Amino acid sequence: MSVRRLAEVQPESFAFTPENLEWARTLIARYPEGRQASAVIPLLWRAQEQHDYWVPKAAIEEVGRLLGMPYIRVLEVATFYTMFNLEPVGKYFIQLCGTTPCRLRGAEDIIKVCEKRIGPQRRVTPDGKFSWLEVECLGACCNAPMVQINNDYYEDLTTENFNKLLDDLAAGRPVKVGPQNGRVSSEPASGAATLTDPSLFDGSVVGAWRKRFEEEAEKARIAAEEKAAADKAAAAQAAETPKPGKPSDNTGGQKAADTPAARVADGKPAVAPEAQAKAADPKTSTTAEKPAAKLADVPPEARPTSFVATPGKGDGAGKAAPEAPPVSDEHKPELLSGPQGQADDLELIWGVGPKLAKMLNGMGVFHFAQIAKWNEMNLRWVDQNLGAFRGRAVRDKWIEQAQKLASGWRPESKIGDRPKD
Ligand code: FES
Repeated sequence: MSVRRLAEVQPESFAFTPENLEWARTLIARYPEGRQASAVIPLLWRAQEQHDYWVPKAAIEEVGRLLGMPYIRVLEVATFYTMFNLEPVGKYFIQLCGTTPCRLRGAEDIIKVCEKRIGPQRRVTPDGKFSWLEVECLGACCNAPMVQINNDYYEDLTTENFNKLLDDLAAGRPVKVGPQNGRVSSEPASGAATLTDPSLFDGSVVGAWRKRFEEEAEKARIAAEEKAAADKAAAAQAAETPKPGKPSDNTGGQKAADTPAARVADGKPAVAPEAQAKAADPKTSTTAEKPAAKLADVPPEARPTSFVATPGKGDGAGKAAPEAPPVSDEHKPELLSGPQGQADDLELIWGVGPKLAKMLNGMGVFHFAQIAKWNEMNLRWVDQNLGAFRGRAVRDKWIEQAQKLASGWRPESKIGDRPKD
């Protein structure tokens, strides 16, 4: 620490202005009786501000008098704390950090600029504008080298930008406080190199890791459900497909030997007379044509009923439900050949996973607003065309979900919010 002495040339007296005196008395009154000395630092600081940013001996004595302190006690405080200037300083008082980090980053070049333009330390320029002093670390090492001018920091200095700074101050032009190299504060000069994942700090993922695990688990569960439903549908379809069976015994109880060839060998007609009569009878003939019954001609209650396994969750999951009558194409909703602008993330609809979203896109559905406009018959038309996922659209109330999503609402989870029953 440098030796701190009172200036050789001192004013004969010092007195607080009436405003500052009033302020000092108010401040002193805040302290308990006998503890007024606690106000010594704010009073010295106010004296320095009033006296061109340096504290003369007369001000030290005045502060001691106001606080009832021995002058030597006040002098000890004023000489201990380097924020108190004990000799005149320039209008722009430069405190230049000369500690190791700033030295390593070029503080010596900044010192040379000061020496060249201002002169030796603690000397005020003839025009009264500048003086400078080398000090210890000012706590802005991330922006080394740096200086403090009056109450502000100027950082990331080079000889070029420091010379310009002095030029601007001398000319009374506005200057930029803080980093002089374009940095905003002390962020990496070459751009962010760590913590580059926005989800770590933009609030989009709260409890990031736990939530990510939950989402992955939910996706896996939905994928398993979809696979189970697909397997079940494939099994049902396979069951409906006739299998080649064992050759049936169409001999009508006749012996294996009773064949046309055996009968001819026995001198009998190739076809037995009773078999010919049976074939001629339209009631028993298997070759007579029957009119094909159309499904539309059959009343709904008399139509054959098939069953489709409805993939689902919770109560009723996997229960067989009667298949609804088919919905004709007149109820086909408006479908698009491609997204209009940015396609919506259909996976935000509860129950819609990557496969189903892809299927919907293939069908011509890209936007929440599209689904939000459907009526019940449109929904059923789409539903019946979802293949293995048939039943999802109605069960998961897609229209209701899409209306909320189209209004701008977003679920907390990327897999959507399960619609209330
Ligand atoms: S070393 Fe210069 S500010 Fe810390």
